[in-house]
Amino acid sequence: MVAEPTASPDGPRALRGDEWPLLDHLVSTVFRPEMFHDYPQLFNAANRANLRVIREGDQVVTHVGFTVRPAVLLGSVINVACIGAVATAPEARGRGLGSMCVQDAFDHASAAGVDLMLISGGRGLYTRVGCREVGVDHRFILESGDTAGRAGVARPGLALVPVTAADIRALGAIHEREAVRFVRPRDDWERAFDCGIVMNTPSDFWGVADGSGVIAYVVVHRPDRVRYRKAEDALFVRVVEHAGPRDAVAHALPALIDRYGAARAEVHVGGHDMDLVRALRHAGLHGVPEASSGTIRVVDFPRLMGKVRPLIAGRTGHDLASRLVFEADERAGSARGGFSIGDGTRTIRVADHASLGPWLFGTPEGTHSVPQGDPSLAADLASALPLPALWYGVNYV
Ligand SMILES: CC(C)(COP(=O)(O)OP(=O)(O)OC[C@H]1O[C@@H](n2cnc3c(N)ncnc32)[C@H](O)[C@@H]1OP(=O)(O)O)[C@@H](O)C(=O)NCCC(=O)NCCS
Repeated sequence: MVAEPTASPDGPRALRGDEWPLLDHLVSTVFRPEMFHDYPQLFNAANRANLRVIREGDQVVTHVGFTVRPAVLLGSVINVACIGAVATAPEARGRGLGSMCVQDAFDHASAAGVDLMLISGGRGLYTRVGCREVGVDHRFILESGDTAGRAGVARPGLALVPVTAADIRALGAIHEREAVRFVRPRDDWERAFDCGIVMNTPSDFWGVADGSGVIAYVVVHRPDRVRYRKAEDALFVRVVEHAGPRDAVAHALPALIDRYGAARAEVHVGGHDMDLVRALRHAGLHGVPEASSGTIRVVDFPRLMGKVRPLIAGRTGHDLASRLVFEADERAGSARGGFSIGDGTRTIRVADHASLGPWLFGTPEGTHSVPQGDPSLAADLASALPLPALWYGVNYV
């Protein structure tokens, strides 16, 4: 049954400076009282314009928040928004307020120059408007009893060491060398150490050190604090961010198992991250195909493709890449319409957002619809794809 409104909706619009307590009440009621503490990247004064709300009477009834950060995709720099803490007050649900606020977030992000939206969820609210899981990624698991696997990744001379906010500079220097990553302001590191929550869960930060100091790091969910864990469940260590030399990252897995007394350790590995895939496979570990976290929707197709054009040129050649024209039927940020790609003589069409994201970034199953139109152009572009999918890590909201 559809609930009746008690007052006419004001919004979607940015949160006003005097409305923090109303927003705190909403997200505390819908999620948990610690939301402002747990999501400092979202809930800070400088980000207020990106906290999109609908107010009815003296209540903020709906919220869709997002952050905006640059991200590097193998050398190309794009602008990414991340949506999180999406909530409608229980008594106001089912009236389309959440959907309105989600679209407003896309419109506002588009105006702010965002190319791609990441959403930390996959429910109908998002998939109905074309958001999709993407990524040709892997999840690798090391079982504590797998002696061959443990020996295969262990490296003499490396040690797991705790790291703190005092190490942010060293961690940032390791992170900034990653080929696929968010460009992370120091503030985000500080906030992560301050609140201790990464990807929605209390987390620990570990360095991997050789004789010279910390050369790699891993961020892990604290095995005893994993959400929805039952007392009888075996402890497992989930690596939610890693950076640095891949033999050092792989070395961390058995060391973490020992440190926590866990039954296994698991790590999400991006499809582009062949060095880590190779290191883990070499030790006899098998990865299972996995999408990246949450769902995505392209915000501005022509702008995104313009930015990744050098990557496409690297894969297909400069001549074709420089001739490609990318067009969207609808304005940037819209959930509707299809997409055209032409090279002056040949054209292909991608029907809608639901097809676009999986075509650009791939899917774990390798299944996505093939664009309509010229088959030779479709084949040329297939050789330039997928683009690497982003993984949130510390940037999760
Ligand atoms: C998810 C949430 C924000 C939705 O808010 P809302 O204002 O009720 O959103 P809407 O009215 O636009 O849509 C609600 C439901 O109406 C139905 N609906 C809305 N538009 C529809 C349409 N065009 N066609 C069919 N069904 C539709 C759907 O069942 C939809 O739920 P779904 O997302 O599970 O598919 C709200 O239920 C909530 O706060 N839930 C708890 C927190 C949460 O789960 N947040 C999301 C984290 S990823």
